[in-house]
Amino acid sequence: MPHRKLARRRGPDPARALAYRVLREVSEGAYANLALGQALADARLDARDAAFVTELVAGTCRLAGTYDRVLAAASGRDVARLQPALLDVLRLGAHQLLSMRVPAHAAVGAGVELAAAEVGEKVAGLTNAVLRKVAARPLDAWLAALSAGEDAVGALALRTHHPRWIAEEYVRLLGDEAEEALAANNVSPVPTLVVRPGLADLSELGGEPTRWSPFGARRPGNPADVDAVRQGRAGVQDEGSQLVALALAEASGGEGPADADAPGAAPWLDLCAGPGGKAALLAGLAADGGRRLVASEVAEHRARLVAQALRAYSGDHAPAVLCADGTAPPWREASFARVMADVPCTGLGALRRRPEARWRRRPGDVDDLVPLQRSLLASALDAAAPGGVVAYVTCSPHHRETTEVVGAVLQASGRSVTPLAPASPLPPDALLAGGPFVQLWPHRHATDAMFLALLRVDN
Ligand SMILES: C[S@@+](CC[C@H](N)C(=O)[O-])C[C@H]1O[C@@H](n2cnc3c(N)ncnc32)[C@H](O)[C@@H]1O
Repeated sequence: MPHRKLARRRGPDPARALAYRVLREVSEGAYANLALGQALADARLDARDAAFVTELVAGTCRLAGTYDRVLAAASGRDVARLQPALLDVLRLGAHQLLSMRVPAHAAVGAGVELAAAEVGEKVAGLTNAVLRKVAARPLDAWLAALSAGEDAVGALALRTHHPRWIAEEYVRLLGDEAEEALAANNVSPVPTLVVRPGLADLSELGGEPTRWSPFGARRPGNPADVDAVRQGRAGVQDEGSQLVALALAEASGGEGPADADAPGAAPWLDLCAGPGGKAALLAGLAADGGRRLVASEVAEHRARLVAQALRAYSGDHAPAVLCADGTAPPWREASFARVMADVPCTGLGALRRRPEARWRRRPGDVDDLVPLQRSLLASALDAAAPGGVVAYVTCSPHHRETTEVVGAVLQASGRSVTPLAPASPLPPDALLAGGPFVQLWPHRHATDAMFLALLRVDN
């Protein structure tokens, strides 16, 4: 009888039960990092259990598509036909069996307990049967079996745990280097911190200084342990994001309608500022040169995050925060000396920091984003004063979001625009072949795969 079986069960262990609940939230649309952070804060686990839950959640999310192929083969059915809650239990089990050193009997037993408690006693038998089949082969053997019949890109996608369309784009961009680049997306980076210029000193961050940005440091552990971060005088920011902001600040453009020190000197604009990472660095760099940053963002809740990120700045050149649609802006044309257009994108350049993102994104997302990206870049060019410089930035290397957008907008623009090579420090191999645009990569530079086009508006 079902209730007798339940009575004999020990119930799922708390760490796996917590990981399962976070996975359920992610399956329903939550961001893994945010859901996990909140769950760990609420549960107050010791460091060892917290690390175990983190690996269970991040690893399962990162390889979910691969595990779904394994589970489909092991269960003899398309995983779309399994109850979503059961699928999360099975993915969690597959991760322990294939990528962690959890003994098979422990992983299968824990999966059965979890399935019985969270989904229902009647799926316990199926869970047991499927996980035993998964346990019968190591991951390499599963990948070899599943690769049979795949072409080279399909096998690459499977080996590196990416959907095919992303592997295809990496091959298009990088050729033989694609495998190394895709593999780099499977390694979580050490957190990188950044000082707000003028508000904190690099020595306050601890850790190892970043290679090219003079404002950053890599520091393992919880960033909130650093006083300057808690006080808003420093923040968390990938080195790639620091470098593109710095490149805009140090670009060799005219200074807009007025000299830097003159009253009314042309301000700088961050057109898509939320949640405020680049704005917080730009605000300090602008203030350093006697300028003021206007940080604008369309979503109200994200505009509040921008204000929070900028809270430590005060005085004459303290930044202003606006909530505005960058494609229909309230400001006058040709009024900013520098414009940052860090547009919404697929985020394919930040996959190592967002475990679930690769499986959530669809090729159609690129189609949806491109018109907005073009419109925001056109608006950024309109906002720049003669001689002013625009930075078009994406945290995606996808050619349709990067070079294609820039090419199309420049062709349609009525303004004369000169692409510029950055004057600020950058890795030597960061320039895209055949042009002054920048493409950073995790496997080469240990940064997110940021794209930057610096564009000087000549008239
Ligand atoms: C890639 S994020 C910017 C990241 C930010 N620069 C940072 O470093 O923290 C893009 C932002 O653009 C905002 N956005 C989307 N459509 C917009 C629009 N029409 N006008 C202004 N901002 C927009 C999104 O809400 C999102 O916050």
